[in-house]
Amino acid sequence: MMPGRQYALLPVAPVTGSNVPGLTSLYSRAGRGPYGDARYRGNCSGYLIRDLLRFYRSTTVLDLMRGSGTCGDACRELSLPYFEMDVKHGQDAADPASYAGLPMIDFAWAHPPYWRQIVYSDDPRCLSNAPTRDDFLDRMQTILRLAKGVLTPNGKIAVLIGNYSDRGRYQPLSHLLVERAIREGLWLACTEIIRWQHGNTSSRKQYRSSFIPGLHDTCLIFESLSTHERKPQP
Ligand SMILES: C[S@@+](CC[C@H](N)C(=O)[O-])C[C@H]1O[C@@H](n2cnc3c(N)ncnc32)[C@H](O)[C@@H]1O
Repeated sequence: MMPGRQYALLPVAPVTGSNVPGLTSLYSRAGRGPYGDARYRGNCSGYLIRDLLRFYRSTTVLDLMRGSGTCGDACRELSLPYFEMDVKHGQDAADPASYAGLPMIDFAWAHPPYWRQIVYSDDPRCLSNAPTRDDFLDRMQTILRLAKGVLTPNGKIAVLIGNYSDRGRYQPLSHLLVERAIREGLWLACTEIIRWQHGNTSSRKQYRSSFIPGLHDTCLIFESLSTHERKPQP
């Protein structure tokens, strides 16, 4: 029998000075909101993006991998200027030429393919066509470097990424990406955010094999290491 929807009690969050009190390390919000296009494979809900933009009081946004435009829709709702790229529209986020003419931005959003879990096109520049995991991580590291190059000193780069099993081997992409970010002088600005994946296509599948299903992806928010080091140290 397929297990149905179950309800989990979230831990009580402390009261903080946050202007978005519902934004914690556990992000569970059913529905995708009026953002992007649910038919675009691998699209994400816009709620988390909107909450991050509000929390960081972002003023100028860059979406590095537009997909169906979810981030742009969240920016429009908040009346924020935004810039976007996607290799499907000819802009490779790993190519310095794609950044020409951009102003400084204070929030970059990256929702890349989770390596080859979903293949988006046959364009060799598409991250989902990276022949190896290391090649995927090399390109993501390049994208982090280039995005950092247009980031204001207190700016943030948020990456939403999931881990999965590829041909029988678990791929902890979010963990490996943190190490690549550190190589680029970026540091985690806050807790990782575990986004519960409601409405995932794979949730409706049945598998013969026994494994522990992953029901979340992870949002990593980076800032430049020099910004991090200017903060009071414990
Ligand atoms: C997970 S989807 C993004 C979905 C989007 N967040 C939404 O809600 O619709 C990943 C996107 O990354 C794009 N992409 C892959 N490689 C890229 C690259 N090198 N530069 C820019 N975009 C890339 C793909 O074309 C795809 O649209």
